[in-house]
Amino acid sequence: MQRTGKLAVLGAGHVGPVIARLAIRAGYPVAIATSGDPDDIALITELVIPGAQPRWASDAVADADTVVLAIPLHRFLDVDPGLLAGKLVVDAMNYWPASDGVLPAFEDGASKGIGSSEIVARRLTGSAVVKALNHIGYHELEEWARPAGAPDRRATGLAGDDPAAVAAVAELTDRIGYDPVPLGSLRAARVLQPGGPVFGQVLTLPEFERAVYEDARNLR
Ligand SMILES: NC(=O)c1ccc[n+]([C@@H]2O[C@H](COP(=O)([O-])OP(=O)(O)OC[C@H]3O[C@@H](n4cnc5c(N)ncnc54)[C@H](OP(=O)(O)O)[C@@H]3O)[C@@H](O)[C@H]2O)c1
Repeated sequence: MQRTGKLAVLGAGHVGPVIARLAIRAGYPVAIATSGDPDDIALITELVIPGAQPRWASDAVADADTVVLAIPLHRFLDVDPGLLAGKLVVDAMNYWPASDGVLPAFEDGASKGIGSSEIVARRLTGSAVVKALNHIGYHELEEWARPAGAPDRRATGLAGDDPAAVAAVAELTDRIGYDPVPLGSLRAARVLQPGGPVFGQVLTLPEFERAVYEDARNLR
């Protein structure tokens, strides 16, 4: 089975720090990076993500087993796929034209029913890509994290083409506080993206399964 091991979170905006905090709380070693100098985020990291290591993105990725992409999709196009080769990549990104602008590759994909993570994976041919942690807003993601077995625990979906990678990310999401719901191949990740039945929702496991059932059964 693939290991999630050490995490590199790329992106220190809204959702990156939340994922980093939850992962640290769950016992993962975490480095966090922007596209710039880690010194620029050193103080804020110490204050809001205690325990995370601010690093240059390339160094954080080189030392990591798992890389969480928590950057705007239009900025992803600047990331060198070679940097991520051999890594387990968690795609927490969404295609959001209002903030990303219209991105022809993703727009064209959407018109053909191809999900954004499938397009991300086509670019990252050397990585195992799993879509996860994209469909819950950053405030709620932190607020609703619960230990396994908590009666009000919520669910989060994930999808990917590599079963070992999906299992590893399911373990990560479980440890950070959510019931993982593997939906199948990366094609199924479309139910997690904007316009899908669970996007922006924080649902219990039965609610989540009910919400995706109609979509997911045709997507496996
Ligand atoms: N906001 C949410 O509630 C939420 C929840 C789940 C998923 N998402 C998805 O997560 C992604 C990020 O959303 P956000 O709201 O957190 O964005 P954001 O607040 O705009 O933050 C983006 C971060 O990415 C960094 N960044 C940009 N290019 C980078 C690169 N090449 N390497 C490393 N870091 C880079 C930016 O720093 P520099 O510009 O300084 O490099 C910034 O820290 C989006 O696709 C969004 O749809 C968001």
